[in-house]
Amino acid sequence: MAQWVRLCSLAEAPAVGQVMEAEVQGVGVCLANVGGELSALDNVCPHRQGPLGQGWVEGEMVVCPWHSWAFHAKTGVAEYPEGERVGSFAVRVEGQDVLVEIGR
Ligand code: FES
Repeated sequence: MAQWVRLCSLAEAPAVGQVMEAEVQGVGVCLANVGGELSALDNVCPHRQGPLGQGWVEGEMVVCPWHSWAFHAKTGVAEYPEGERVGSFAVRVEGQDVLVEIGR
Protein backbone atom coordinates (compact mmCIF):
# COMPACT_ATOMS: atom_id res chain seq x y z
CA MET A 1 0.00 0.00 0.00
CA ALA A 2 1.24 3.45 -0.83
CA GLN A 3 2.31 5.66 2.00
CA TRP A 4 3.89 9.07 2.40
CA VAL A 5 7.18 8.92 4.25
CA ARG A 6 9.67 11.59 5.26
CA LEU A 7 12.74 11.57 3.05
CA CYS A 8 14.66 14.52 4.51
CA SER A 9 14.23 18.01 5.83
CA LEU A 10 13.70 20.91 3.47
CA ALA A 11 17.08 22.27 4.59
CA GLU A 12 18.78 19.02 3.49
CA ALA A 13 17.06 18.97 0.08
CA PRO A 14 19.19 19.79 -2.96
CA ALA A 15 19.54 23.38 -4.17
CA VAL A 16 18.24 24.42 -7.59
CA GLY A 17 19.95 22.42 -10.31
CA GLN A 18 21.29 19.79 -7.89
CA VAL A 19 20.50 16.16 -7.07
CA MET A 20 21.11 14.01 -4.02
CA GLU A 21 20.46 10.45 -2.98
CA ALA A 22 18.65 9.26 0.11
CA GLU A 23 17.19 6.05 1.39
CA VAL A 24 13.88 5.54 3.07
CA GLN A 25 12.46 2.20 4.16
CA GLY A 26 15.10 0.41 2.13
CA VAL A 27 14.22 2.29 -1.04
CA GLY A 28 16.94 4.36 -2.70
CA VAL A 29 15.63 7.69 -3.95
CA CYS A 30 17.22 10.32 -6.19
CA LEU A 31 15.86 13.72 -5.16
CA ALA A 32 16.27 16.45 -7.78
CA ASN A 33 15.61 20.18 -7.76
CA VAL A 34 14.70 21.46 -11.20
CA GLY A 35 13.96 25.16 -11.24
CA GLY A 36 13.04 25.18 -7.56
CA GLU A 37 10.69 22.20 -7.79
CA LEU A 38 11.59 18.92 -6.11
CA SER A 39 11.01 15.57 -7.78
CA ALA A 40 12.03 12.02 -6.94
CA LEU A 41 13.19 9.10 -9.05
CA ASP A 42 14.30 5.57 -8.25
CA ASN A 43 17.98 6.00 -7.43
CA VAL A 44 18.99 2.90 -9.40
CA CYS A 45 19.70 3.48 -13.08
CA PRO A 46 18.12 0.76 -15.26
CA HIS A 47 21.29 0.54 -17.37
CA ARG A 48 23.91 -0.86 -14.96
CA GLN A 49 22.47 0.20 -11.60
CA GLY A 50 24.37 3.48 -11.44
CA PRO A 51 23.42 5.89 -8.60
CA LEU A 52 21.29 8.58 -10.25
CA GLY A 53 21.44 10.73 -7.12
CA GLN A 54 25.19 11.11 -7.67
CA GLY A 55 24.59 12.42 -11.16
CA TRP A 56 23.59 15.91 -12.22
CA VAL A 57 20.72 17.99 -13.63
CA GLU A 58 20.66 19.09 -17.25
CA GLY A 59 17.59 21.13 -18.13
CA GLU A 60 14.68 19.03 -16.87
CA MET A 61 16.70 15.82 -16.95
CA VAL A 62 18.69 13.91 -14.36
CA VAL A 63 21.83 12.45 -15.91
CA CYS A 64 23.35 9.20 -14.64
CA PRO A 65 26.98 9.69 -13.55
CA TRP A 66 28.15 6.39 -15.02
CA HIS A 67 27.23 6.44 -18.72
CA SER A 68 25.09 9.58 -19.06
CA TRP A 69 21.66 8.10 -19.64
CA ALA A 70 19.26 10.99 -19.03
CA PHE A 71 15.84 10.69 -17.36
CA HIS A 72 13.12 13.30 -17.02
CA ALA A 73 13.18 14.44 -13.39
CA LYS A 74 9.40 14.10 -13.01
CA THR A 75 8.34 11.28 -15.30
CA GLY A 76 11.49 9.15 -15.30
CA VAL A 77 11.21 8.76 -19.06
CA ALA A 78 14.61 8.64 -20.73
CA GLU A 79 15.65 11.19 -23.32
CA TYR A 80 18.55 8.94 -24.15
CA PRO A 81 18.23 6.10 -24.93
CA GLU A 82 14.66 6.15 -26.22
CA GLY A 83 12.21 3.68 -24.71
CA GLU A 84 13.95 3.45 -21.32
CA ARG A 85 12.62 4.80 -18.07
CA VAL A 86 13.17 4.74 -14.35
CA GLY A 87 10.49 4.71 -11.65
CA SER A 88 9.35 7.97 -10.10
CA PHE A 89 7.80 8.91 -6.78
CA ALA A 90 5.31 11.63 -5.91
CA VAL A 91 6.87 14.33 -3.71
CA ARG A 92 5.37 16.91 -1.42
CA VAL A 93 6.65 19.36 1.13
CA GLU A 94 4.90 19.50 4.47
CA GLY A 95 6.19 22.17 6.82
CA GLN A 96 9.94 21.62 6.93
CA ASP A 97 9.82 18.02 5.70
CA VAL A 98 10.13 16.52 2.23
CA LEU A 99 7.83 13.52 1.82
CA VAL A 100 7.77 10.88 -0.91
CA GLU A 101 5.07 8.39 -1.72
CA ILE A 102 6.48 4.88 -1.50
CA GLY A 103 4.89 1.64 -2.60
CA ARG A 104 2.51 2.82 -5.29
S1 FES B 1 24.50 2.87 -15.18
FE1 FES B 1 23.39 4.65 -15.60
S2 FES B 1 23.91 5.10 -17.63
FE2 FES B 1 24.96 3.24 -17.25
